[in-house]
Amino acid sequence: MLTAIITGASVGIGQATAQRFLGMGYRVYNLSRRPCPEPGVENIICDLASDASINSACRRLLPVIADSAKVCLLHNASQMRKDTADHCNSDSLRAVLETNVVAVNSINQQLLPALPKGSSLLYVGSTLSEKAVAGSFSYVLSKHAQLGMMRATCQDLMGKGIHTALICPGFTDTEMLRTHIGNNPEVVAAIGSMNAYGRLIEPGEIAGLIVWAHGNPVINGAVLHANLGQKEA
Ligand SMILES: NC(=O)c1ccc[n+]([C@@H]2O[C@H](COP(=O)([O-])OP(=O)(O)OC[C@H]3O[C@@H](n4cnc5c(N)ncnc54)[C@H](OP(=O)(O)O)[C@@H]3O)[C@@H](O)[C@H]2O)c1
Repeated sequence: MLTAIITGASVGIGQATAQRFLGMGYRVYNLSRRPCPEPGVENIICDLASDASINSACRRLLPVIADSAKVCLLHNASQMRKDTADHCNSDSLRAVLETNVVAVNSINQQLLPALPKGSSLLYVGSTLSEKAVAGSFSYVLSKHAQLGMMRATCQDLMGKGIHTALICPGFTDTEMLRTHIGNNPEVVAAIGSMNAYGRLIEPGEIAGLIVWAHGNPVINGAVLHANLGQKEA
């Protein structure tokens, strides 16, 4: 059996990736608070802010992994808040890091040792994994941390036959982006115009890259930017 385990496949890039893996005959497991609407996806309702919830999800996944020839473990879920270096209280920062960084580690600690050779451990970062913009302090910080996690993962998994990569989307038309920028067509068009193609990215375009990264271990350790050629600010 081939298996994809995806955090945050209830909507957006995660859902589009679930759809792709299903089409390739994979068993797909989604970990999020809402279910993935794609028929055929196994939903494990999970709040990544809760250790108990993560532990219970991992207990359910270990026998699935034991029965898999190859696994794609995709850390896709993230929280995004609007805050700044001078207005981000530490409780709020902790909450973002809990979901975007600590939860990723908790899942890795429990599932990584069980992954068979030929598996991949992929992270969804952001353009903001390697640069910063104003007004997204905790998100930028967590996305840089994910870059460090991916690079450390690559070094620590030497010889294990499991590859890793950080996929870094640009502005992609999902719930997260719409929550952040709103639905005003002028604002949406202005954000879309910030790359060489003058449009937002579709979640399926990022999903295609994720699936490709899973199938190509030669990219082990790579940071793959997927932003249609974003203009420099
Ligand atoms: N959209 C963009 O422009 C953009 C750009 C760069 C990077 N990215 C990255 O792409 C990834 C996917 O984002 P998206 O744009 O597809 O966002 P999205 O549509 O808002 O999806 C976010 C996913 O994360 C899950 N999630 C958030 N908090 C969670 C929690 N506490 N427990 C469990 N699941 C949680 C959500 O599931 P539930 O709410 O159902 O729990 C949802 O499935 C993220 O890592 C994001 O940072 C997106």
